[in-house]
Amino acid sequence: MRRLTVIGLGLIGASCCAAIKKRATDWTIAGYSRTEATRQQAVARGLIDQSFGSIVDAVAGADLVLIAVPMGQFLTVFSEVLQCRDPQTVVTDAGSTKESVIRDITALCETPPDWFVPGHPIAGSEHNGVDAADADLYVDHQVILTPHSKVSTDALKLVTSFWALQGASVSMMDAERHDEVLALTSHLPHILAFNLVHVLSDDNEHLDIFRYAAGGFRDFTRIAASDPTMWRDISLANQQSIVTGIDRYVERLERMREAIADGDSDWIMGSFERARGARRLFSSLADRGVDPVMDSHPSVFEITGAKKGITGKIRVPGDKSISHRSIMLGALADGVTTVEGFLEGEDAIATVKAFRDMGVQIDGPNGGHVTVHGVGRDGLKPPIAPLYMGNSGTSMRLMCGILAGQSFDSELTGDSSLSRRPMRRVSEPLARLGAMVETSAEGYPPIKIKGGQTLQGCHTDMKVASAQVKSALLLAGLYAADETSVTEPAPTRDHTERMLQGFGYEVTREGATASMCGGSRLNACHIDIPSDISSAAFFLVAASIVPGSDLTLSHVGINPTRTGILEILNLMGADIEVLNRREVGGEPVADLRVRYAPLKGIKVPENLVPLAIDEFPVLFVAASCAEGPTCVTGAEELRVKESDRIQSMVDGLSKLGVDIKDTPDGALIKGGGVDFRFNGGTVESHEDHRIAMAFTVAGLMCCEMITVNDCANVATSFPNFIGLARETGFPLTVPP
Ligand code: S3P
Repeated sequence: MRRLTVIGLGLIGASCCAAIKKRATDWTIAGYSRTEATRQQAVARGLIDQSFGSIVDAVAGADLVLIAVPMGQFLTVFSEVLQCRDPQTVVTDAGSTKESVIRDITALCETPPDWFVPGHPIAGSEHNGVDAADADLYVDHQVILTPHSKVSTDALKLVTSFWALQGASVSMMDAERHDEVLALTSHLPHILAFNLVHVLSDDNEHLDIFRYAAGGFRDFTRIAASDPTMWRDISLANQQSIVTGIDRYVERLERMREAIADGDSDWIMGSFERARGARRLFSSLADRGVDPVMDSHPSVFEITGAKKGITGKIRVPGDKSISHRSIMLGALADGVTTVEGFLEGEDAIATVKAFRDMGVQIDGPNGGHVTVHGVGRDGLKPPIAPLYMGNSGTSMRLMCGILAGQSFDSELTGDSSLSRRPMRRVSEPLARLGAMVETSAEGYPPIKIKGGQTLQGCHTDMKVASAQVKSALLLAGLYAADETSVTEPAPTRDHTERMLQGFGYEVTREGATASMCGGSRLNACHIDIPSDISSAAFFLVAASIVPGSDLTLSHVGINPTRTGILEILNLMGADIEVLNRREVGGEPVADLRVRYAPLKGIKVPENLVPLAIDEFPVLFVAASCAEGPTCVTGAEELRVKESDRIQSMVDGLSKLGVDIKDTPDGALIKGGGVDFRFNGGTVESHEDHRIAMAFTVAGLMCCEMITVNDCANVATSFPNFIGLARETGFPLTVPP
């Protein structure tokens, strides 16, 4: 048996006792409280095995001591524990501030002892006392440990397992950082809640006011019912960080007061929009623990063979590449840019959020409408924290170009997939312009960009055919002296060049080279974003392989640098009509009518690869259903997308019965022809949106069921995929 001593039987200490009693039989628990009645209650509720009114007696023989008293009592309690603990006893605490604990301890001992592990469970309630003890209080909550450099490994292990046993997830942090973070996320909200209630209670009519107060008041002030002693102690223990937080808040509130008094509707709207966006991001963060990828989006798709053709007329969401660029150039322009058809997917939202974090007011997206209040080419403000790009490689790489030209330092981070994607392809050519863009030692994010550099335009011969690299260079070129030019080894999407021209910025194109001169300004404009041909591709293939299909996709962008998919499907024998060709805001657009047609295998011409780079996952599905072999070469770039798309497709399709072999730069797929049906089974999308949707299309030609795992990221590029797929006849279900 191991012995746990809990000093302080309030909500935090008593809940630990309850949690350990519920989950572990090999611990006996000794409880200390100054108050007799509390001790009796703890025994009566079965929370502790023995109660003590003296710390010396309670601590004797303990393996682990948890100090869970208000911060103001910590020093007194710790000095007693210091004198009476046995040599093997490990001590931890549950205080809400951590630097003060270290300060208190160093007042008693020269260096913090190796048997003491400072900790803080991020859980609580406005209820207090032993009565409020809750055996599940820590389940799925964070516990932050802030071990100092001397802490012994065994002590750290014991404390970590103590919290893990209670269902908490344990993380480590530096004490100073802990206090700064908690000042903003916990201490400041409590202080605001106490003060709002205080202000209202000063009113003579406060009883009446409280009677009529609705949910907003209740939600905002719930925590003002917390223990005043505890919060006084926390306020004093974390003085510095809390004062900084209050100053920031007061400044913001004063600005809001001014805007309301002046009737500045745009400013108010911008501020609320920004807060709402951040709050939503927080909700998804809170749901899944770390990365704000959407738990709220279904993560498993189940699809069985189509019973009839894929039919109807749909409009898929706005182009992702153009959506990113509309925000970037809109933010750097002089004046207000209005955008229509904006993709409300997580990737484009990451770009919106990054510019908001740099002080740009962006209203929306709302039904595809966005208003960007440009700050001019030199108007961005330093972000206060690293800019989080989520899953979006385009945001990160293009932002490198823009940030390289700013006067301030910045940092870009991303989710686990983006954190494994190569970034030297942008950092190295940008360095030749004089930019300081630093990746991890392996060439991955996070990326640190040093501001205040003088950029000098130069010529770059790009090694890979990448529109992202080309765009990063051209965007840095806005800030570089003289001419910046880029030659690409094969044509890639030219949305940056087109949109710069739409903003009145001169860019010239000669053969494979795009050139521009730095120093001019961008003029705000209106942007009408066509539907994304990369999203349309899933439906082009679906309707091509399912007999009886006749589907029209309206308003699809058919920029010639993006239409590789149409050319490849046509070579395979697909029946796609391009109707109603028109030009919208500098981009060619058309309606695409696609009808079922038996496909044949082909050797995909290498020159079409960069023009269809995002469409290969679903093209592999088309090739599986085609008559004869399809050979893809020159597509090694697929290995460094959101997943290794060659590997992801080869693994999944082999499992579904396709005769497919990977090569370093592509794959050889032996198509089964019109009678081919995929086997049922479970496939992994590796959190890659396009892999998830490609396997969903395969499910249309399966007699059993295909289950696709890890589909939540479909929302990065195609948030209403499920709805549109069902509307056109996909028997697609999402298990609860
Ligand atoms: C994009 C360019 C392509 C593409 C990506 C979007 C862009 O990447 O795969 O989805 O918006 O510039 P590369 O340019 O790296 O091939």
